[in-house]
Amino acid sequence: MKVLYAASEALPFMASGGLADVAGSLPQALRRRFVGCHVVMPLYSGIPSELRENMKFITHITVPVAWRRQYCGIFEAKYGGVTYYLLDNEYYFKRDTIYGHYDDGERFAFFSRAILEIIPHIGWKPDIIHCNDWQTALTPVYYQTIYANIPGYENIKTVFTIHNIQYQGRYGFDILEDVFGIAPQNGYLLEYRGDINLMKGAIECANVVSTVSPSYAQEIMDPWFSYGLDPILRDRSFKFYGILNGIDVKNYDPETDPAIWQNYSDAKPEGKAVNKTELQKFFGLTIDEDAPLIGIVSRLVAHKGLDLIRTVLEELLNTSNAQLAVLGSGDSEYEEFFRYIANKYPDRVGVRIGFIPDVARKIYAGADMFLMPSKSEPCGLSQMVALRYGTIPIVRETGGLRDSVSDSGDGEGNGFVFKNYNAHDMLHAIRRAILGYQSKEGWHILVSRALECDNSWSKSANQYINMYKSID
Ligand code: GLC
Repeated sequence: MKVLYAASEALPFMASGGLADVAGSLPQALRRRFVGCHVVMPLYSGIPSELRENMKFITHITVPVAWRRQYCGIFEAKYGGVTYYLLDNEYYFKRDTIYGHYDDGERFAFFSRAILEIIPHIGWKPDIIHCNDWQTALTPVYYQTIYANIPGYENIKTVFTIHNIQYQGRYGFDILEDVFGIAPQNGYLLEYRGDINLMKGAIECANVVSTVSPSYAQEIMDPWFSYGLDPILRDRSFKFYGILNGIDVKNYDPETDPAIWQNYSDAKPEGKAVNKTELQKFFGLTIDEDAPLIGIVSRLVAHKGLDLIRTVLEELLNTSNAQLAVLGSGDSEYEEFFRYIANKYPDRVGVRIGFIPDVARKIYAGADMFLMPSKSEPCGLSQMVALRYGTIPIVRETGGLRDSVSDSGDGEGNGFVFKNYNAHDMLHAIRRAILGYQSKEGWHILVSRALECDNSWSKSANQYINMYKSID
């Protein structure tokens, strides 16, 4: 079986969020299970030069973007045994940021079309094209409406995975032909509630659709979570799967991670305490091995549950000896809030604004607990990384958090969980964690249970293969 995995970002080349982690690790896991999986992504100007140096130019072609044809250079790279195709067009991809431009619709229409156009030129015909999120949502639509009957393209199946239903790719209907190159008679595929909705088009046209956890698959069939798409998903529930993401357990390994102060493992967990002391120093906090240190690594946006933290953080600080280490960037209201708190409580709260993978790893290793009170969370990878580093997650019971963290109150679980999106319910869960932390022996059991959790791709990669087989 041959799968072309299409994503707008993939590690190690370019990352802005969890999609890049998945696109950087699932293909390797599939390959280890003898599925030929190649990845296709844009060649952004921000890709580090040392990675560019190892790319091989294959050829260049032109790609139709509605009535124009645009240059597309095809480069090839190998990483972790996986072949990557990086598609070059400086007009579209030589930008400071990868998203957030006025013409994102056109940029990713180009990419989605190019994914199909390169097939005769790479000497490798996929059985399945696996698309991800709105940026590649047009590929299944183009396949169905343009390519399915072209010689050389027969019998390709398409898969579409939703990593976050909030971002659907919605545009005015008037640009259907001029930007997206969709003939008016096919407009119904993309039309939703008066707009063009790229994600809706992919849900219609892909042979199967999936999302990144079983719980989120259930949730987004409900209007509270679906950002309007629940009727479409309910109608297509016969071809809709929920498969929990895994993480790259080789890359995230406290035993070998060079970014942390001292390596440790389940067999030799003592090193974790060194990381805690160093993390306290790093953030200028009081060095105190008994103070429960809570880590937060997050995009600072509303759906991550930051309003809950904002509501009760001072109450927590004033009624406990907890400390906080925060890393993230995003909306200025949250960035300002955390800066303000760090100024007010310099020896209790440390904050770095930014997306700094090295510092993230230091927090995963040095913190005792990891707070992730998301309002919604399709899968969430940070709680899995935290567990991998023996750091106990405190999470809201939603989406992938619900599927990967269970409450230790019953003596079995690996974290602390609360149900309602309510600040004091979260505070109560944090207090339960702090109470648990005070019993050294019980806490050690919890840490070693966390270190033993298997969040590798092993189970989920097989589920993807079964899903592929169902349409192959
Ligand atoms: C998105 C989701 C996140 C998920 C990731 C990878 O970033 O918001 O929950 O873990 O995609 O699927």
